[in-house]
Parts: sequence; structure tokens; C-alpha cells
Amino acid sequence: MKKKIIGVILATAMVATLFTGCSGKSEEAAAPATDAAQEEAAPEAEDAAPAEAEDAADATADAAGGDLASKKVGVCIYQFSDNFMTLFRTELENYLIAQGFSKDNITIVDGQNDQATQTGQIDNFINDKVDVLIVNPVNSSSAETITDKVVEAGIPLVYINREPSADEEKRWEDNGWNVTYVGCDARQSGTMQGEMIVDLGLEAVDLNGDGKIQYIMVEGDPENVDAQYRTEFSVKALTDAGFEVECLSDQVGNWQQAEAQQIVANALGQYTTDVEVVFCNNDAMALGALQAIEAAGRTVGTDIYLVGVDALSEALENVIAGTMTGTVFNDHFSQSHSAADAAIRFINGESNDYYIGCDYVKATKDNAQEILDMVK
Ligand code: GAL
Repeated sequence: MKKKIIGVILATAMVATLFTGCSGKSEEAAAPATDAAQEEAAPEAEDAAPAEAEDAADATADAAGGDLASKKVGVCIYQFSDNFMTLFRTELENYLIAQGFSKDNITIVDGQNDQATQTGQIDNFINDKVDVLIVNPVNSSSAETITDKVVEAGIPLVYINREPSADEEKRWEDNGWNVTYVGCDARQSGTMQGEMIVDLGLEAVDLNGDGKIQYIMVEGDPENVDAQYRTEFSVKALTDAGFEVECLSDQVGNWQQAEAQQIVANALGQYTTDVEVVFCNNDAMALGALQAIEAAGRTVGTDIYLVGVDALSEALENVIAGTMTGTVFNDHFSQSHSAADAAIRFINGESNDYYIGCDYVKATKDNAQEILDMVK
């Protein structure tokens, strides 16, 4: 079993006004609130010796009457080709097996980024009478429909990664349903991205010396609060630190490397040396941005800065090499383990909180190797 970061549980839900895009257009959205967004969680590496992990798995299996092996788990992932969700689902499957589930009884399906496909997969799992469902929705806004049919079928439900609205979560609580959400607060990751730029100092980042930070923003799927909040809070960290900012380009790269490469190539072609910072809502897009930056003959850390989120191995290697300024560890160990633990509690007839959180961790040159050693 791999080492893991110890997550801290964050709670409370609120409605917030989000500002996305260079135009500063606003929209209403719902997400969890935390006052810990400014604080960096210390990466606490914990050695999980295999023997201890096995003991823990035995204990959990015993608590379930030793019959987890006979329980069926349905897992819906919004899209298998997503790098981060690949790490997440691999760890989730390994951890479920370590807890006593049988590999044959864990079915993980690819929603192919299509809600109709995923809804059909959920119907199949209901017909198959799975004991618990773990769902990474294609569209968070479909959660109400999904919840209704899964609750109606008497199956406990654990949402992961893409958070349903605060109203939807309140419905679970008001009705006492066996439904929960496991994920991190994306505001924290956005804030950390901005802080890593602030920490370099205005003089270093303001490469053209005009007193302002000119940036490009590359966003993930705009339906997703992770994209909305990372976009807003990365910039907010700069303005909170007293930096003046100017958005040169803000476009949707849908979490995809190739789309981001194209967006950043175009923006660098148009704004050339005015671009001082490239913010990407995730690392896959930051890796695409890096390809465009290098193709344009620019050098990260010298004449441009680049930050992402997730702490993919390749991104961490770039942070260590100085070809990325920083990333933010999106703790797929903590999230997948919490999701599995919540599923087990439901199977055992116990309840869960309606929101189960975890902390992000900044990854800079100082600690990137340590995080790489944990995730590899
Ligand atoms: C985010 C992650 C992205 C992408 C997205 C999918 O948390 O940072 O890389 O996987 O989830 O919803």
C-alpha cells in the first residue's frame, strides 16, 4: 500500500457568486465553504507498512461481518481518459480490494463524458441490485435525477470529485438519505496557485515592469465548480496580496492537454512577451501549456510562470526541473479512501456526514520530490 497524505475534513455549504472569464461575468453556483482556504496543509507522510494495512483491512472486513467480499460495488467515472480520474479510480479499486471486496464484484464504468451514457449505466447498476454506488457525475446538475432514482431503489450513494449543488446536498440531509459527497474544496487549490505566484514577489513576476501581472487562464469544464473556483481564487490570491492584474485571455480547455496547448499557443502568438503568468485549472492542461511555451521559445521561471493543479507525476517532475513554477496536490489517496470508507459505512448500516472533505497541498520546488515519492 502506498503512503498517503492525511486529509482534514472540511464542512459547511454555502452559495457563492463566481466570477469567471476576463469579462468578469458572474454566475450563481453552489459549493462547500471553508475558512481553511488560506492555510497550507503540511504534507504529512505516513508510512503504511503492508502488514499494518492488511490488519486494518481485516478489521474493517470483520466489522462488516466479514462479508464485504460478497457485496457489489458500482462505480461510475465521468470519463476514463481523464488523467486525474484515472489515478483516482485505480486507487479506489485497490483500496476497496484491500478492505475485503472481491475484484469480481467491483464494476467501474466509463461515462465517456456523456450524461445519457452514464444515466444508462446507473440504471443497469440499479437493475443489477448493487449494494452501493459511487458516482463521479458527468454533469453535477444531473445529481438530483440520479439521487432520486438511486434512493428510490434503496441503494446508498457516494458522489465523488464533482460536487452537486448545496440545495441538492441539503435535500439528502433533510430526508435523511444514505447519500454523501467526498471531495476537496476547489477554492483552496485556486488560492494556493495564486499564492505560489505571490510568493515569487511582484518584482520577479512583473517581467515587463508595468506594475501589473498579465496572465492567461485555461479553464477546465465550466460546468464544474473545480474549474469555476480555481479560476476565481487563483486570481483573488494575487489581488488580495495587492497585485494589480490584467487578464489577457481566459478560455476553456476542458481539462485536456491538447486543447490547452492550442489555447496557449494562440494566446502567446497574440500577446507575446506581455504574458507573465499562465494559470491552468489542472496539470494535464499545464503540460499542454508547457509544450506551447517551449515551442514559443519561452522559459518558465525566467520569462514566464506556469502553475497547475493535481500533482501528476509528470507535472511534479517539471516542478523539480523548474519547467513548471508549481502545482497543487489533489489528494486522490485521501479522496478515494474516504469514498470507499463511506461506502462501507453505508453497507454496514451506519450513516455518513453529507460532505466529506480533504485538503490540497502546495507543491513547489521545495517539496515536489517528497510528493512525487508518495504518488509514484
Ligand atoms: C479535478 C481535477 C481535474 C479533473 C477534474 C474532473 O478535480 O483537478 O484534473 O480530473 O477534477 O472533474
